[in-house]
Amino acid sequence: MRLDKFLAHHLGISRTIVGKELKAKKVTVDGEIIKSGAYQLTPQQQVEYDGYIITPVTENRYFMLNKPQGYVCSTDDPDHPTILYFIDEPMPEKLHAAGRLDLDTTGLVLLTDDGKWSHRITSPKHHCQKVYEVTVEQPLSSDLIELFAKGIKLKSEKSLTKPAQLMIIDDYHAELTISEGRYHQVKRMFAAVNNHVIALHRKQIGNIILDIPEGKYRLLTQDEINSFS
Ligand code: URA
Repeated sequence: MRLDKFLAHHLGISRTIVGKELKAKKVTVDGEIIKSGAYQLTPQQQVEYDGYIITPVTENRYFMLNKPQGYVCSTDDPDHPTILYFIDEPMPEKLHAAGRLDLDTTGLVLLTDDGKWSHRITSPKHHCQKVYEVTVEQPLSSDLIELFAKGIKLKSEKSLTKPAQLMIIDDYHAELTISEGRYHQVKRMFAAVNNHVIALHRKQIGNIILDIPEGKYRLLTQDEINSFS
């Protein structure tokens, strides 16, 4: 394969930009700087771009990230840094979040390039459970357990929320398990009962439990990936 075609494909950039990067001497093949896009690569050769080995990605990729506050889950945002800042992998822009968290929410984000897999997590049909640790402004009352279990009406929505399990830990802390992913759902559920969420952290999606420090990511195990099959 031509070197410029290989680079455009694996870096996800146009051949024009590839040409510029080659001229800037950023590409080596087996350790030698190559400036010609027409160079013919063999499958055994090792290509490096800007010091990174380009490994042809042939299989889908699956990661968990412990997202800190201040990062958006979309992969392209003009105003805020994105979660891809943490992902030191080739072609991170090919990954997407299987279920987003708000800018100020922390915790478990699953990242993949497998659209079918992420659909199983985000589609309302699959009722995937997500567990959140919630800190609120006003003291929690035990009546909320039944209210959330029955489903409540969110502002500007017609259908009630699906049954959610609330476990009150103390006056200001609870764990909430929901099986939907409506816009700002947890914050809006507490707003609907005249409370205000001041901190929100996702600790679990389906059977996948967050087990890494903030700002870190890791590959999912095969069992974790298969848990959504
Ligand atoms: N619900 C919210 O309100 N925010 C999140 O980030 C996730 C769930």
